[in-house]
Amino acid sequence: VNRLTYVSLVALFGLTGCAGDKSILDPAGQAARDVVLIWWIMLTFATVVFIGVIALWLYAFKRKHHERTPQQERKIARRWIVGGGILLPVFSVSALLIFGVPTGKRMLPLPLSEPPDVIEVIGHQWWWEVRYPGAEGGEVVTSNQLIMPAGEPVDFHVTSADVIHAFWVPRLGGKIDMLPGRVNVIRLEADEPGIFGAQCAEFCGAQHAHMNLYVEAVEREEYEAWLADRQEERLAELAIANENFAQARETFASTCAACHSVAGLSSSSIGPDLSDVGARHNLGAGVLPMEEGAIHYWLENHQTLKPSNKMPPHDYMDTATLESLGAWLETLTP
Ligand code: CUA
Repeated sequence: VNRLTYVSLVALFGLTGCAGDKSILDPAGQAARDVVLIWWIMLTFATVVFIGVIALWLYAFKRKHHERTPQQERKIARRWIVGGGILLPVFSVSALLIFGVPTGKRMLPLPLSEPPDVIEVIGHQWWWEVRYPGAEGGEVVTSNQLIMPAGEPVDFHVTSADVIHAFWVPRLGGKIDMLPGRVNVIRLEADEPGIFGAQCAEFCGAQHAHMNLYVEAVEREEYEAWLADRQEERLAELAIANENFAQARETFASTCAACHSVAGLSSSSIGPDLSDVGARHNLGAGVLPMEEGAIHYWLENHQTLKPSNKMPPHDYMDTATLESLGAWLETLTP
């Protein structure tokens, strides 16, 4: 293999970072497009500066020794200080400011003629609570998934229940800190329906990396239908609908209910709300894909899959109990 092939292969590996549901280089909304434009400008500029510094460095080796008077030396030094130390930074920082201010402004929740939908996102160690306070018919609560309308701005009100986390949907825009005791707001918009990944972007403990959020933008009607399916009465009916799982419901009520909500059965936000868990796309905030038997597998192995997560191990329960608990939770698909 010749050298060119090696170089191309390495470059190709580098490019794998440019795609995927969390790639900032693949923007799906205006705020993200602004961010990526600034990123390219900064990269180009930094590359020019890098090449310039290397060229000067090489030049310094090759340069012949000049006899100069102290006055001449001072004059040359002054030129470098004024050019490289004052003019260059003033120029480049001003340019970044000119691009940066409107970008930041676009993500601010400035008043609009039609107020956008509000979605509340609350960071927990290590999962996401998502609330829709404006849903018709009453607030909707879910976790580890965020469904939003496409083609219109949405205001995300973010906060934390414990330590500092950060809300970041790379393909839609910038990050924002989630601070306990404070609500930060970021306005994002998805151009079109699509699935976007989100990730906690502030180190928040052992499982920071396993704090993924499934984000999906859907058409307005689909969004409304999704919310309507998650009205509390509907979910409560769903929870007790299957007669085969009376025992599983009892187990849930006597143990899991201390931390988890299932509409109609329990109410607690210590752990993720499970009222629609069967309809989610993954488990453990992105640890396992949701498929048949996945919840049972998670219940038995969660401390191995996601060590030090706050759910205690289920050693005290037998396999049959966990299996039926998992099977019942899988039926919770509104
Ligand atoms: Cu939450 Cu990092």
